[in-house]
Amino acid sequence: MLSENQIIYTYLHLASDKKLTKALLSKNVIAIAYETVEESDGSLPLLTPMSEVAGRMSVQIASHYLESAQGGRGKLLGGVPGVRPANISIVGGGTVGINAAKIALGMGANVTIIDINPARLRYLDDVLHGNINTLTANRHNIANAVRSSDVIIGAVLIPGALAPKLVTNQMVASMKSGSVIVDVAIDQGGCIETIKPTSHSDPIYVIDGVIHYGVTNIPGAVPRTSTYALTNATLPTIVDLANNDLTKLLSTHKGLAKGVNLYKGKITCKPVADTFSLSYTPLDKLI
Ligand SMILES: NC(=O)c1ccc[n+]([C@@H]2O[C@H](COP(=O)([O-])OP(=O)(O)OC[C@H]3O[C@@H](n4cnc5c(N)ncnc54)[C@H](O)[C@@H]3O)[C@@H](O)[C@H]2O)c1
Repeated sequence: MLSENQIIYTYLHLASDKKLTKALLSKNVIAIAYETVEESDGSLPLLTPMSEVAGRMSVQIASHYLESAQGGRGKLLGGVPGVRPANISIVGGGTVGINAAKIALGMGANVTIIDINPARLRYLDDVLHGNINTLTANRHNIANAVRSSDVIIGAVLIPGALAPKLVTNQMVASMKSGSVIVDVAIDQGGCIETIKPTSHSDPIYVIDGVIHYGVTNIPGAVPRTSTYALTNATLPTIVDLANNDLTKLLSTHKGLAKGVNLYKGKITCKPVADTFSLSYTPLDKLI
């Protein structure tokens, strides 16, 4: 039902959906993806609120599926005096990662965050007062952490691109039966090799005895929180889009221009073009 020159301003996650990308290209629309709109410091202001919700929820979801009635290992995240807490490893220490860590720490779990960015690990160590273990992301560290974890939270992001598969099939097979994987990064294809998209109505499946949760829209479960959090961030730009000429707006608002993934039949987001080996056209050549 889309028509030429219409503006679509929403989450798109095109790198994980070639069919959607092709369909939008054929409609010659202007597709602005919330998840690649940037602030001047490189942060992602329209992804952040949903990452906060999903990060916090990921741990309560994992805690639920760890219960034995759900097929889990039957472990309480925080343990009790005299009994060890559960081990949670969070792969990716950005917004999802730190929010997952805060909830997991609050529940008393033993938390490890794995990230590729040493400055980010330093920051996490500081703000979480040394209450977490930090690990540099490499195959060896990830394999060891996965093997000893009751819960893995997938939370990496390379903006616009397909997530790298950091946790392999073999690593998943090394986990104990009844362990839980919540791959929040599933909207960009997921960072766990065994993950596939699931829905709120049918959220989990089991591989090698490990419960996999791959819901692509986790915040949809708590809309009374998520809708307010999201529209707080998106509404000012919606007003700008309604009141201004689009090309003028895009040439002055560089962060919004970063959100333009498709422009009238051309791909203007390089990671999306690269993912599908399609041609890339910089937006400033088109407006
Ligand atoms: N499923 C859902 O409902 C849902 C909701 C919100 C967000 N998300 C997704 O969660 C993912 C994470 O979002 P975010 O806001 O936390 O992103 P972010 O940019 O804040 O954090 C990503 C982190 O991944 C790290 N990283 C990148 N490459 C890595 C690698 N090779 N190894 C280890 N770490 C690496 C980065 O250094 C960064 O700290 C995104 O895919 C986002 O779209 C999903």
